[in-house]
Amino acid sequence: MNATINLENKHFPVLLNELVNIISPLYGGTFIDCTFGEGGYSKKILEDRKNKVIGIDRDKDVTFYANNLVKSFKNRFEFYNLKFSQIDRFKKSKPKAIIFDLGYSMNQIYDKQKGLSFKSIGKLNMKMGINDFSAHDAISKLSKEELNKIFKFFGDEKFSKKIANRIDLERKKKEIKTEDLKQIINIVKKNRNSKIDSSTKVFQALRIFVNQEISELLNGLINAYNILPVGGLIAVVSFHSLEDKIVKFFFQSYSREESVSRYLPEAKKLDKYFKLIHKKPITPQKNEINKNPPSRSAKLRYGFKIQEGCEFTELKKKFGYLTNIENLGLKL
Ligand SMILES: C[S@@+](CC[C@H](N)C(=O)[O-])C[C@H]1O[C@@H](n2cnc3c(N)ncnc32)[C@H](O)[C@@H]1O
Repeated sequence: MNATINLENKHFPVLLNELVNIISPLYGGTFIDCTFGEGGYSKKILEDRKNKVIGIDRDKDVTFYANNLVKSFKNRFEFYNLKFSQIDRFKKSKPKAIIFDLGYSMNQIYDKQKGLSFKSIGKLNMKMGINDFSAHDAISKLSKEELNKIFKFFGDEKFSKKIANRIDLERKKKEIKTEDLKQIINIVKKNRNSKIDSSTKVFQALRIFVNQEISELLNGLINAYNILPVGGLIAVVSFHSLEDKIVKFFFQSYSREESVSRYLPEAKKLDKYFKLIHKKPITPQKNEINKNPPSRSAKLRYGFKIQEGCEFTELKKKFGYLTNIENLGLKL
């Protein structure tokens, strides 16, 4: 295999060609890039002079990249430092497509101040931008039962209870920093032989909790549907299984008319709000994974809005147990 490892902290836009193939038939109008990052998607869309882009990102550190595009693509690019759950304010822009590329850019992962990676040291943080509390607040103030829930449901961590108990013990002696949390996990899990680092799951769980990623995703998708004109498209690139589960349910549960018996009376047919072209997600080709190994877990799903009026009751209900856990953050 001729793998080129990404040695610099360079961010490669994931599944860029695949995304362009999907959205280019809609070119000639406004596109909303909900996760601007380093602007890889936005820049590509702006290369077609018929397009305008509204870029959104919760991390104000990306303003540097956004300002470059403002200069290069005068009057065709605007940037807003917002969370994508707040896109309802762009309804008047009548977007052709709304795009989400979930997760973190390489710059964020390697940013020592943000402390998103278990390779960081110092005070626990994990804030992506526009946050109400940090990982330090969560680790020092939540009960061990609450921490257990976070590790279990957001990280699928088998040792969640033991890790939460150990944190509770250690935090009575001293402030738990990033390196201490990693050590606690190593002690509990006894450095069990595993393909992934023993801290991966707990750190993922804490990142999701601190950034309220489940509530953001649910509200982001629902608001995207609400502001999108019929005929428009929503495309989402996800990176972990929890995100993909939500995205899959969002598209597939509301596009199911064909699975209902044709003998059912018309009124009983499920309403159909999206037209899907693929049932399975689009994933990166081998050459992209070789160039950018973290892309291997990316999944792209998309759908065209074909009807107004979806309330997403089942979606909210199905994932309510996760938003309830995120709501533990309200008291921090
Ligand atoms: C994987 S990067 C996007 C990379 C981008 N597609 C590119 O080509 O450079 C994800 C970006 O989404 C942002 N982000 C994540 N969750 C967000 C949210 N709820 N609201 C707004 N921005 C968010 C992160 O700050 C990060 O910059």
